[in-house]
Order: sequence, then C-alpha cells, then structure tokens
Amino acid sequence: MRAFTITADKFTAENIPHCGNKFLIGNGYFGIRGTMEEYTKEHMPAVNMAGIYDKVGDAWRESVNAPNPLSTYVKINGKKLALPDAEPISHKQELDIAKGIHTRCTTWQTEGGEVCVTCERFADMARRNAVGMRYTLKTDFDCTAEITTGIDGDVWDINGPHFVKIDTASRGDIEAVSGTTGEKGIIVTAQECVSYRFDGEINVRCGEKQVLKTITFTAKANTEYCFEKTALIYASCDEKPCTDAADELNYADLKREHIAAWERIWDVSEVEIDGDDEAMLALNYSIYHLNCIAPRGLSGISIPARGLSGQVYKGAVFWDTEMFMIDYYIHTEPAVAKTLLQYRIDTLCGAKTKAAEYGLDGAYYAWESQEGGFEACSDYNVVDVFTKRPMRTYFRDKQYHVSAAVVYGIMKYINATGDTGILSEGALEVIIECARMYRSLLIKKADGSQYEIRDVVGPDEYHERVSNNAYTNKMAQFVFKTAYDMIKALDNDSYDELNKRYDLEKLLDVFKDSYENMYIPQPSEDTGLIEQFDGYFKLEDVSVDEVRSRLLDPKEYWGGAYGVAADTQVLKQADVVAMLSMFKNDYNAEIMRKNWEYYEPRTEHGSSLSACMYSLLSCHIGNPDAAYPLFMKSASADMNPGGKEWAGGIYIGGTHPASEGGAWIVAVKGFAGIDIADGELVCNPNLPKKWKKLSFKLMFKGELYCISIENGKGTINKI
Ligand code: BGC
Repeated sequence: MRAFTITADKFTAENIPHCGNKFLIGNGYFGIRGTMEEYTKEHMPAVNMAGIYDKVGDAWRESVNAPNPLSTYVKINGKKLALPDAEPISHKQELDIAKGIHTRCTTWQTEGGEVCVTCERFADMARRNAVGMRYTLKTDFDCTAEITTGIDGDVWDINGPHFVKIDTASRGDIEAVSGTTGEKGIIVTAQECVSYRFDGEINVRCGEKQVLKTITFTAKANTEYCFEKTALIYASCDEKPCTDAADELNYADLKREHIAAWERIWDVSEVEIDGDDEAMLALNYSIYHLNCIAPRGLSGISIPARGLSGQVYKGAVFWDTEMFMIDYYIHTEPAVAKTLLQYRIDTLCGAKTKAAEYGLDGAYYAWESQEGGFEACSDYNVVDVFTKRPMRTYFRDKQYHVSAAVVYGIMKYINATGDTGILSEGALEVIIECARMYRSLLIKKADGSQYEIRDVVGPDEYHERVSNNAYTNKMAQFVFKTAYDMIKALDNDSYDELNKRYDLEKLLDVFKDSYENMYIPQPSEDTGLIEQFDGYFKLEDVSVDEVRSRLLDPKEYWGGAYGVAADTQVLKQADVVAMLSMFKNDYNAEIMRKNWEYYEPRTEHGSSLSACMYSLLSCHIGNPDAAYPLFMKSASADMNPGGKEWAGGIYIGGTHPASEGGAWIVAVKGFAGIDIADGELVCNPNLPKKWKKLSFKLMFKGELYCISIENGKGTINKI
C-alpha cells in the first residue's frame, strides 16, 4: 500500500465537528472521532459503539458512546494547556489511512517557552476491543509538568445521558470506568493501563464519572516524556466477551498487529489511479472509512448511515447500506457483506411487525433500523425552525422503497458471490415477505389496466405522499420478479419444504400477475422524460438557487407539507436517475441522457447519496467527464468542511459512508464499467480524461481478480 495521509495544518475551533468526522478511526466494533485527547463532551469526542442503543425518556433512541479512554491533558507550571481554550502556535492533525493511525502535534507558547504535545492512537484492527495510544510531552525549558490521563465517563450524547450509573475503579495498574445504560442495563466498560519510563509522582483519583491518573514530574528542556496506553472497550451484551486485560497488552505489539491487519485489507482494497493523485487519495480515503465501520467477525449488526461517527441519525441503519455500501464489501470481503444481509434476515420479524402495524402483509423494513429491526424513525423527524414545533414527516410511514433495497442488496450479493446458500438461510423468506408487502400496496388503476402504488415517499424526500413514484414502482416490480424467479429456481426438495409454509403456487401466480401488470411510468414519446411521480411536471419549474433564495432561515427544512421545495420540481436527491442507473439495461442511452439533463439542474443534491447516482448514470451514458466532479464530490464527502449539518433544526453531521461506497461503485461499475453478464465479469471502461490507468482487485464468485484499464482497454486476470 502506498502512503496516503490526510492532514489539517492548523487549528480552528469551528472545524472541531468536521475534524471529528474527517479524522475518524475505527475497527467496526467502535469508531473514535477525530477529536483531541483533552476535549470534554462539549467538543463531541466519542467512542461510538456498533449496535448498542439506549433510549432516555421520550427522546430519540440512539447508539451509545463508551467511556472515553483517551482523555488526557497537560499542565505546565500549574497552567492547563488544552485546545480549544489555549490557542496553539502550531497544530497538525494527521490520519495515515494506510495504517489506520491518527496523530496530532500541537505546540503552545507559554511564558517559560514552547510546549509541544504529540499523540498517536489507533482503533485496533487486529483485536477488536483494543485501543492503543502513545502520548509525548516536550518543552524547550525546564518546568514542572503534570500529565493527567484517564477514562472519562461523562460522554457526549445527543439524546442522553445514557448511563444511569457510572462505576469507576483503579486496581493495580488498571483503571476502569463502566457505564450502565438505562433501558436495557447494558454495561459498557473502558479499561486501561498506562506505562511510562520516567520518574514522577503519581496520583490516581476515582471520581464520580472519571478515573484520572496524574503524573507530576520535573521536565527537562528538550527531553521527550512519553507514556503508552493500552485500553480495552467492551460491553456486557457482547456475543464474544473480551478475554484480554489492559495490563497484559503491549503497545508496540498491538501496533504491529494492527498495521499488519490494515495491510491485509489494503492488499485487496487499494485502488490505483495513474494521472490523478487527488482522485486516488479521495477514493482510497473512502475505502478507509468503509473499513473502519465494517462489522468483521461480528453478528447481529449492520452499518449505520453515519457509520460509527456518533449518534446522528440515531446510529440507525438505512437503505444506504444495501444500495450504496454493500457493493464494496461484496467485492472485497464477502463475509462482511453477508453479515450485513444476515442483519436483515435476523430482523425480518421486526419488518413483519412494522408491516402489520400499517395493515400490510409481509415485511416492511424499518426506515431507521436499530437492533432487532426496531423502527427508530419517529413521526416527527424535523423541527420547524420558526415555531420550534416538531414537524410531521412521512419517512417512516411511506418510504416503502427500503424493503426493495434489502432485496436488491441480496441479489447483488448472490450474483457476485454465487452464494445461493443464503437463500435457504433466510434470504428467500425475506424476498417473499417483501414481495408480499408490495403486493398489499397495489391498487388497480381506475381503468382496470394496471397496478399502481399510491401515497409514497420516494428517494427524493422533499415530495411526500406522492403516487406512482417511478423509482418505487420499478423497485416493487423488481421484487415481484425476483421472488417469482427465486421460487421457480428451487429444487424439488426445497420447493416442497417451503411449500409447507407458503402456498407457493398461489404466490407464483400473484407475483407474476404483479410484475406483469405493474404500472411503470414510461418516457414521454415527445421528450423522453420519465415523470418522477404523478403530477410532478405540473409543479412550479424553478431553479435550485431560486428555491434556496426563498429560505427565511438557513436551517429550514425544504420538504414536507410546507417546505420551499414541496410545490416545485426541485428534488433533494437522485430519484428517476437512481432508477435509471440501477436498471440501465432497460433504457436506451438517449432516454438516460435526456433524463439526466432534465433532473440534474433540478436536484439540490441535499443528500450525500445523490452525487454518486448522477455520476454513475453519466458513466453509463458515456460521459465520464460529467461524472468526474460528482464522483469527486462523493469520494470527498468527509474530506472537506461545509457538508450539510442541519435539517430543520436537527444536527445531521457525521461521516458519509454511503457517499463513500457510492464513489467506489462509480469507480468500479462506472469508470471501469465492471458488470456481470451471463454470470461472468465483464469490463466496458470509460475513464475520465486525465486518468491514464486504473487498477484494482475484485472478488468474484470466490476468486480474486486483478482489473487493469489502460488506453481504453480493460483486462481482467484471475490472481
Ligand atoms: C436521505 C436518505 C438517507 C438518510 C441517511 C437522508 O438525508 O434523504 O435517503 O437514507 O439521509 O443517509
């Protein structure tokens, strides 16, 4: 793996939330925000746990942040030096994405002279519970120094506090803080051991929420004083309990194993782009994030929309996972993709409960899914910035397309891995139950000709409760056809077995009737345009800028009943274009081009999921140079400040793994033109002008392939 480093060269207080996301480290079990060691909860440090949730009172249920074992600050001659209060004379924050190591180096000018602090840390990729940290203090004058380091149980929460009880302890060389959640009594513990080789006086304090160890010593000018910390984070609900003890771990060994684990990941995952270092960095940075959140060796969890960067969006799993992220795992580490799908299989029961709640048959997956498929999406998702009242939104009730995304994810996995075994492990039941759900949504059109689906919210969330959303109808048809085909493909024994639970003959008839008679909005004969939903073309046709200029408050929500976009043709994110890029073989290039050209200027790209879909369609219609800026936008979603942080008074910042997964899809399926035809990998490349060569590896049906594209030609070689 070549060296890739992400850097911030100076400190600005307003970038604290952004840097927390940009410099995230993680290992799938937890994510650690790229905040400074001295930060307290006002500055959003977080060790965000995968798959552990808690609810406080009537507030939103959300993921839990563990006690923070990185907490550290210094005092020089009695004066505390800590960002953001003490302004530094220099500050550098770095993320080595090849090794998954975060470093910071900060220098302050004090009366006595300069004080420099450096710290490197990692979320251990080889040992999921472990965190390593190495902290160094150096001054250019003799002074009395105090380093205070420990575990902070007073964590940042959006809808907390989640710990109803915090226990602190110090025994021998180990300090520990355990927080107990209120709803389920889950105990989340951080345990640590600090080692150093200089003389100092030690004082350990177990407070109500923290355990802090202070080392006081006389620092000599230009001498480095360093301590190493090995920490463990674990929870009482862990399937595989942590068997390590912090004082038995050695920092150097952990670091070596951690780097080796990342090397193994990059061996398969690295993408090389000759001629465009910026794109190569952005894409590999995206891949880095996808790896920080991959649930390796874990079960019962999937990936939240904001990864493991905190509690935004409640730490919940959305359609993002199956539509935008899973492709990367399918083709680099299929076991991770299977874990993601297993989560949907395991939560089928929750999806059936939700369907029944709405009077529907089958399975309606949660729009915001937590453990067990629990629907975390509330009826009121945004706040009216003027009245401060919650606004009714219909994401939970009407985004039926989430169930189709699950089926789409299953089929992408099967087609690329050949693992049809997953069908008998529960995936076929998921497909059938989703098809049953869509069937119960069908209404015969007034003229009796076809089925339509009324009253939905499509991917463009700004227009709620619309009818015949082209995307939703097409996806429903895909689900019917898939269910039909998968039942038809069963061997006799499997058919008989399943027939004990379903009347398969009847289901086959119903699904066939449904996909054959499903109304799919077609391209107009005059314009070639596909109407996003019934009546869309009659809405006011104004520019995105015009709609933006109508905002009375920058945090105002654009959609819903009274939003500025609701009665206009301005959409939040790819909708018809998402459909076209997914079903490219059903439409000709001219139709795809006309729709891209119509919808793109009307799209706010208000969701980070949008740019990659437009980019992908651009590739499909042979226009990689139009695809390129949208690809870069997608790949750099977490690199640059300025991303959307507010929606109707609700904070929505965090990392954007769907955008990053989307960037990978564009590179591989768009620019490289990788596809599966007749069960084989094929490659129809279309590189942006400045890319001289693109190469990467792909897993396909259990084999690893090396793909290389140069001079307009692609080669696919089995390794
Ligand atoms: C988008 C959804 C997406 C969610 C989580 C919203 O802003 O509109 O499509 O699933 O964010 O990423």
